[in-house]
Amino acid sequence: MTDRRKILVTSALPYANGSIHMGHLVEYLQTDIWVRFQKLRGHQCTYVCASDAHGTPIMIKAREQGVTPEELTASVSREFVRDFGDFGVAFDNYYTTHSPENEALTVEIFEALKARGDIYTKVIEQAYDEQEKMFLPDRFVRGTCPFCHTPDQYGDACENCGKTYTPADLIDPVSVISGTPPVLRESEHYFFRLGNYEADLKEWMEEARLDRNMVAKLTEWFDAGLRDWDISRDAPYFGFRIPGSEDKYFYVWLDAPVGYPASFKNLCARRPELDFDEYWRPGHDTEVYHFIGKDIIYFHTLFWPAVLKGAGFRTPTSVFAHGFLTVNGQKMSKTRGTFITARTYLDNLDPAYLRYYYAAKLGPSIEDIDLNLDDFVARVNADLIGKVVNIASRCAGFISKQFDGLLADRLPDPAGFDAIAQASDAIAEHYEKREFSKAMRRIMALADTVNRYIDEQKPWQMIKDDARRDDVQAVCTQGLNAFRSLMIYLAPVLPELALKSRRFLGEESWCWDDAGTPLLGCRIARFEALLTRIDPKRVAAMVEQSKESLEATPAGGTDEANPLIDIDDFVKLDLRVARIESAREVEGADKLLALDLDVGELGRRQVFAGIKSAYPAEELEGRHVVVVANLKPRKMRFGVSEGMVLAAGPGGGDIHLLSPDTGATPGMQVK
Ligand code: 2FM
Ligand code: ZN
Repeated sequence: MTDRRKILVTSALPYANGSIHMGHLVEYLQTDIWVRFQKLRGHQCTYVCASDAHGTPIMIKAREQGVTPEELTASVSREFVRDFGDFGVAFDNYYTTHSPENEALTVEIFEALKARGDIYTKVIEQAYDEQEKMFLPDRFVRGTCPFCHTPDQYGDACENCGKTYTPADLIDPVSVISGTPPVLRESEHYFFRLGNYEADLKEWMEEARLDRNMVAKLTEWFDAGLRDWDISRDAPYFGFRIPGSEDKYFYVWLDAPVGYPASFKNLCARRPELDFDEYWRPGHDTEVYHFIGKDIIYFHTLFWPAVLKGAGFRTPTSVFAHGFLTVNGQKMSKTRGTFITARTYLDNLDPAYLRYYYAAKLGPSIEDIDLNLDDFVARVNADLIGKVVNIASRCAGFISKQFDGLLADRLPDPAGFDAIAQASDAIAEHYEKREFSKAMRRIMALADTVNRYIDEQKPWQMIKDDARRDDVQAVCTQGLNAFRSLMIYLAPVLPELALKSRRFLGEESWCWDDAGTPLLGCRIARFEALLTRIDPKRVAAMVEQSKESLEATPAGGTDEANPLIDIDDFVKLDLRVARIESAREVEGADKLLALDLDVGELGRRQVFAGIKSAYPAEELEGRHVVVVANLKPRKMRFGVSEGMVLAAGPGGGDIHLLSPDTGATPGMQVK
């Protein structure tokens, strides 16, 4: 074993406005496997992540859902934490970028850059929505492509011809939020002089020994000349306000990577062995690695190291980028049912299958990887069940039934065991270099040799001969020890399976080097099936469910599980008949109506309801509805909402208020 390294690892911070899907999981599983490997080797390895909470899309989505951005990001983050946990992604800390630690660090960085003269302000022109009274990011303007005339294109690039442009170039542009044509308006923005860091970045690129594809990209960017970076946005914006300004906010991409040290800082407060400065100030013998997707290389290899350098922080040891995921050779598609969320997968299949399949496909480069569903079934069944688990199931029965669970105290083929032990360094090196596919191939080749050994020894025949009982025990001990070493090598990829195997073998803990020492003369537990074959029907069901669930999933993508409640939960709801006294539109909210309700003995209530697309306000007066009367009042941008009216339907124009039969009067309880 080499010296104990101190390593900090991050995965990109997911935007807290959607659901985790198979594409995201490539990155989180890749990182988790690498982190688990480092921990198993005995290093101090810390894995932090967070939800990326800021920016216009999240602000708009929260508004559409009638909740605050804090509420939206908190509930989406809870869903993320569940999904990641169920896939075995073991963060040391999962936090949010909307945190006091992040604000303090972002401001510190900004002030340091300002003091060095790296920040300046300049007036720019930007698309502005006069109805919503807000500046529009390029993606919030749509119109006809000025080059190929394809309608309904984003304001930054055409999906048909691939050309890039600005929203002002679009033909007949409209704001995605209000549907009105935007105007151009001036505003003062803050800029970061990225060009000041060209020499530093070139030096860092060498030190970080980036993948050659990344170096090629960086070289292109250097050759084209580094442009200054616009780091501010105008109110209304969900983010951190820039000190010294009234209504300017840090652009989400400035504070997002600061979420890495901020999440780590939050963890340091409860882990005395971790020291923030040791990992984030220059001059310490620690390592920091960022795992990212190839689409955000620019942010992580130019802006981020430059900002860190300028502000007196250490730069990352390296950045590891992976490619995109295709499913069955194509982009994930909602119509084909290949846009599979983490939860839909988990509803149907064991996470171990996907962890193994991705590991078997992943290498260190930015090449895309394909999840071919037929190959997925074949590969997992052949390798995991047919090769690895098979070793244990062929040997364990004899040990428990014939030898009362006792392993022999010798190995009949020490050279066979040594061959597995000696592969340790090569397999470790593959893991270290993120050559997971090579590591898996090597492990499966070893499993093949063990299965051949068992085929040759034929313990099922030997057992018929009383004189050879000891040999059966020895051969099965050999097989189980091979299984044990292979499971230690596979533990970073298959933590649950490794845990079950370790318990079955009656051991307290495993470290990487344990694979080199056999387990002899010990008693092991009864063997229970460790993992079953993938049933292709479950894969088909998952694809079907992905087709359906996407239609039914609300805009927030919060595809919550639907647990049963008991009667006590139900009686907690105070459902009442209410009469709509008046209804009116809410300025600045395109989905909400404000309702004044008469709830009989409970008095008058104001409720905001997202029903504007289905009901003109004037048609609602006098109508009886059902209201949840004991919902905690919720402060919204437009006022306080004191309850919720019940309605059926998926949303949009397809919303139907629930009304009681004639005769019900305001305040009556609904039971
Ligand atoms: O591209 C994304 O999904 C971003 N939310 C990633 C941020 S990574 C880091 F910089 F915060
Ligand atoms: Zn075009």
